[in-house]
Amino acid sequence: MNSSTPERIWIIGASDGIGLALAKAYSAQGAHVILSARSQDALDKLAAQLGNASVQVLDVSDRATVQTAADAILAVGPVDRIIHLAAMYDPGRIADLDPDKAAQIVTVNLTGSFHIAQIGPKVLRKGGQLALTGSVAGYVGLPQGQIYSASKAGVINLAESLRAERKDLDIRLICPGFVETRLTQMNEFKMPAIMKPEAAAKAIVKGLASGGFEVHFPHRLTRSLKFIRALPYGLSMRLTRRLSTEE
Ligand SMILES: NC(=O)c1ccc[n+]([C@@H]2O[C@H](COP(=O)([O-])OP(=O)(O)OC[C@H]3O[C@@H](n4cnc5c(N)ncnc54)[C@H](OP(=O)(O)O)[C@@H]3O)[C@@H](O)[C@H]2O)c1
Repeated sequence: MNSSTPERIWIIGASDGIGLALAKAYSAQGAHVILSARSQDALDKLAAQLGNASVQVLDVSDRATVQTAADAILAVGPVDRIIHLAAMYDPGRIADLDPDKAAQIVTVNLTGSFHIAQIGPKVLRKGGQLALTGSVAGYVGLPQGQIYSASKAGVINLAESLRAERKDLDIRLICPGFVETRLTQMNEFKMPAIMKPEAAAKAIVKGLASGGFEVHFPHRLTRSLKFIRALPYGLSMRLTRRLSTEE
């Protein structure tokens, strides 16, 4: 990218939560942001507020809409970064989950990320950046967090493979801890180290501007979970089973 031309950044999942805060943060830095999600009204309102922004409505679970948006973006020119955040959340205990809803969550979160992993690279300039969003929920199987957590473990694995395969691109993984959005409003438990979306956006902007693969935050939460993940099952399961509300 020429340093005098503003960055073009495609943010998928930009109508609310972390994606919305991220769009504002990059726009404040002078980037042109391309805003995607399903809600046209919310995206149009945000684009009008930001000024240097455009809108591409899509549903990540509907590949044709992703392809149409990608074609429209590429018709203007390649982008410097793609940040994919769109996801659904409705966690619970495995025995209680509605199978249709669970399948929809896998389709949006995992298959949706797969569509972006396949279509996104064609929209990026050479050496451009593509970030997929996992979660600390995907690090280790905790009780009462499915099927969201399994879908996020899948996204982490997908991003690892994409990073290994695409040496021509800067593939990244974002793993947030708890962030105050409509998504976490569903949680009835006390969320440790919960952050505001603006703080999450700041951590993402900083992390994506630095080297390395994974952007994870806040460290006091992510490092504890990474430690549990690294333990032998005999030890980690003793800890995770203690978190279960089941007798
Ligand atoms: N909040 C947290 O504590 C937390 C923690 C770890 C990881 N994360 C991850 O961070 C990302 C953002 O989460 P958030 O908390 O900001 O969620 P959010 O507030 O619910 O926002 C999700 C965004 O994704 C869009 N979206 C949802 N389904 C979509 C679909 N099928 N196609 C296209 N866009 C879709 C939503 O817009 P429309 O409804 O308009 O489509 C919205 O813009 C997610 O990947 C989430 O798993 C969040």
